[in-house]
Amino acid sequence: MNSSSAVGGDSATRTFRHANALAGRLRGIEGSPTLALAAKAKALAKAGKKVLDLTAGEPDFPTPAHVKQAGIQAIQADQTKYTPVAGIPELRAAVAACLSRQHRTDYQASKVLVSCGAKHALFNIFQTLCQSGDEVMIFSPYWVSYPPLVQLAGAKPVIVHTSEQDQFLPKLEAVRAALSQATKVIVLNSPSNPTGAVIDAGRLKAIAQLALERDLVVVSDEIYDQLVYPPARHVSIVQVAPELADRTLIVGGVSKTYSMTGWRIGYAVGPQPWIEAMTNVQSHSTSNPTSISQHAALAALTQDQQAVARMREEFQQRRDRLVGGLNHLSPLRCTLPGGAFYAWCNVSGLGQSSELTAAQWLEDALVATVPGEGFGAPGFIRLSFAASMETIEEALQRLSKWLSQRGH
Ligand SMILES: Cc1ncc(COP(=O)(O)O)c(C=O)c1O
Repeated sequence: MNSSSAVGGDSATRTFRHANALAGRLRGIEGSPTLALAAKAKALAKAGKKVLDLTAGEPDFPTPAHVKQAGIQAIQADQTKYTPVAGIPELRAAVAACLSRQHRTDYQASKVLVSCGAKHALFNIFQTLCQSGDEVMIFSPYWVSYPPLVQLAGAKPVIVHTSEQDQFLPKLEAVRAALSQATKVIVLNSPSNPTGAVIDAGRLKAIAQLALERDLVVVSDEIYDQLVYPPARHVSIVQVAPELADRTLIVGGVSKTYSMTGWRIGYAVGPQPWIEAMTNVQSHSTSNPTSISQHAALAALTQDQQAVARMREEFQQRRDRLVGGLNHLSPLRCTLPGGAFYAWCNVSGLGQSSELTAAQWLEDALVATVPGEGFGAPGFIRLSFAASMETIEEALQRLSKWLSQRGH
């Protein structure tokens, strides 16, 4: 028997079968556009081009030294074996203590599931709570992964638009209009990626009221909760409506706050029966998150927080420079983000798609950014200020030159 008949046909047939083998729920799901653009910018830089990379969804600072040291110590102390699926007890307790402090409430470690990044926490949540026939409300501009994460669970993302005029904050009338019998979950992301919008307490209270009335689950992605610039202030929905705690899952992690994107530690905090069900899901997929990373994350959460304050201050200065600079470049327009590390710039005045503009910025000016299409908001471009002040200054100069060459 030759090898082709052993697998049941010639190579053409095999190729055809492979293409058709993909599960239907993957239809329309593509890789993350932000990760793809970041990879493209890195490839250009590797090829010797002087690319200014403003695509990054990660702080450009190193992981704090004491956190790295905790990882090294974990290896040396042979903490390199399987851990409990939901995470080492000390880390679960540390997450519970941090959130309890922030929310002035009392979370127990049993309500915490540690996962391989906040993205994985969200994956577990949708896999556990959603199925075919369920609708999940997502506000646009949205973080690129929410719709695919919902679709991968067989549920339907329902997009509710927010506008520049409303500082990209959700409007209650729009939420009401989009609700149906099938709505099961509402996803909040404050501070927001990509707009930096921070939802105020009053608006959160109104959303909480609606969630109670309509028996909704709230998923509150608060991964940027420590990256908020005064006078903006982060408030969690469970702080303004404690009665919502038994139907809310809070998502967070160490990636953004502690510059630990590669360590892959995130978490979900919420009602214990859901956390237990999500732990079961995780037990059959990744098992525990990396033991070494868990020990590093424990050091990040429980030791010196000065590095966080330093990064926040630096981000704020860069934000002011980038947003101020963009607003001097007619016809670009940019609202001031209250949190996260992205400038969300209206480029519609250029009279062409944001996808084309971002492609031209990369090709002509070697400035890498992410167009709004992937965030469900054409007409805008996301520029990360998780880049050095020099990079930001030079990017502004290059964009200014690009615009003037086009008669702006
Ligand atoms: C809004 C939002 N949620 C979740 C994540 C995922 O973060 P992690 O690195 O913890 O998976 C990101 C990362 O870009 C994000 O922007």
